[in-house]
Amino acid sequence: MKVEFLAIPKAFSGNVAAMVAADKQLLAGAQSVDKALGGALGRAMASGRFTGAKGQSLTLLAPSSRLARVTLLGVGKPNDLDARAAESMGGLLSAEANASGQKAASVVVDSVKGCRLSPAEIAARIALGARLRNYRFDRYKTKDKPEQKLSLEKMTVYVSEPAEAKRAWGRLEPIVDSVFFARDLVSEPANVLYPAEFARRARALAKLGLQVEIMGEAQMKKLGMHALLGVGQGSVRDSQLLVMRWMKGPKTQKPIALIGKGVCFDTGGISLKPAGGMEDMKWDMGGAGAVTGAMRLLAARKARVNVVGICALVENMPDGNAQRPGDVVKSMSGQTIEVINTDAEGRLILCDAMWYAQERFKPQAMVELSTLTGAIIVALGHERAGMFSNNTPLSNQLRAAGAAIGEKLWRMPLGPKYDKLIDSDIADMKNVGGGRDGGSITAAQFLQRFVQDGVAWAHLDIAGVAWSNKGDSTTPKGATAYGVRLLDSWIAETYER
Ligand code: BES
Ligand code: MN
Ligand code: ZN
Repeated sequence: MKVEFLAIPKAFSGNVAAMVAADKQLLAGAQSVDKALGGALGRAMASGRFTGAKGQSLTLLAPSSRLARVTLLGVGKPNDLDARAAESMGGLLSAEANASGQKAASVVVDSVKGCRLSPAEIAARIALGARLRNYRFDRYKTKDKPEQKLSLEKMTVYVSEPAEAKRAWGRLEPIVDSVFFARDLVSEPANVLYPAEFARRARALAKLGLQVEIMGEAQMKKLGMHALLGVGQGSVRDSQLLVMRWMKGPKTQKPIALIGKGVCFDTGGISLKPAGGMEDMKWDMGGAGAVTGAMRLLAARKARVNVVGICALVENMPDGNAQRPGDVVKSMSGQTIEVINTDAEGRLILCDAMWYAQERFKPQAMVELSTLTGAIIVALGHERAGMFSNNTPLSNQLRAAGAAIGEKLWRMPLGPKYDKLIDSDIADMKNVGGGRDGGSITAAQFLQRFVQDGVAWAHLDIAGVAWSNKGDSTTPKGATAYGVRLLDSWIAETYER
């Protein structure tokens, strides 16, 4: 789908959307359409509930021979119109255009009194939302009906300063391909996307200037990553450690480490999961997808920072050679782990990836993303990811970054009493503790045992947000790529200002 920014014309045609502020105040674009239609917009508003409140919309079909559709977009009160609200308006237009089979749509952006965003910024955010919503994973559809395909090919944004809007869009546009790249990874079935295939797709990012290294099982064995290797031991697919480097920041800046859980399929292993819904476990690599998408985005926009992205890629299978409940493994850190439940595999691969990241790169901060526990879905549902951190400034930065772009976080507790629950009788720790109670917290406590002194660390449990069964204003249902934009804007706000 193409996006163009043009100056506001005298008259509109085709499909046009225009903005209405709270209490039915038509903004300039809507006023001019209303005039051309002899007051039809006012009459349409009078016949329904549309008031111009934030998020509302009202569509008139074929109101004149020149106009195929007019969509009124509620912008609410001046303070309501922030970047995220503008993205949602774009997303709504995209969805509507595709639902009705339109190839082209347009929107006129007015300046809104009291709003912090310039019209150019609003225009660029609308374009971003429109593009993000215009996504469908249809690689395996061979007999799609035309009405199932995406129809929207062009979005025209009319704005008083089109050149400025184009510049603002230039800064946002790289987000789209990186989010789509991550959504594709997360959507792929596990027979296609196994660890080596994931790594291969990441390696292709070298063309953007990322330095990509891939380690196989032999190398990981040399490094002593037996916790990670134990998880992959029942799979015929080779486990992989993916290391991506983007070191374009100041020489003296200690790097930021991003760590991703990449379980390409999680059957549970010998602690086998029940059949119902097990297919969801193809997206148990959502953390790795987000980290790889974020690294792609940093490279695409040439961020002036030092960041390393490390993904632990495995497949968790039951097998004659699979790890057994009760097995004891030695992690790269030297700490030993009693594997009580082979389905608590995420923490086993992450502890080695985190240790490796800290030993090799001495990061100042380490943010890890994983679809780690079902318990976080019980706690927070699908609205927010759970955040565990040893550092309040870091967690505040992440929360603020997420709130601004619509990837919300909620901080969860850690503490010595929870930590004690994972003490083992025969090893340094066990991989589950306390039964199901506080399951997300004990998982986080496990990870914290692998955080070195002085490293600001956050663990984001994204099990409830990596996939959406209903979608939202800028994300169709399916893979969300949650984390790509969060990590990118956290880095931009914290390290590039
Ligand atoms: N990948 C799952 C967690 C998960 C569940 C992600 C639902 C997305 C949706 C994880 O590996 C797992 O199996 N966790 C277990 C831990 C338990 C065995 C302590 C769980 O949540 O049940
Ligand atoms: Mn599991
Ligand atoms: Zn898992």
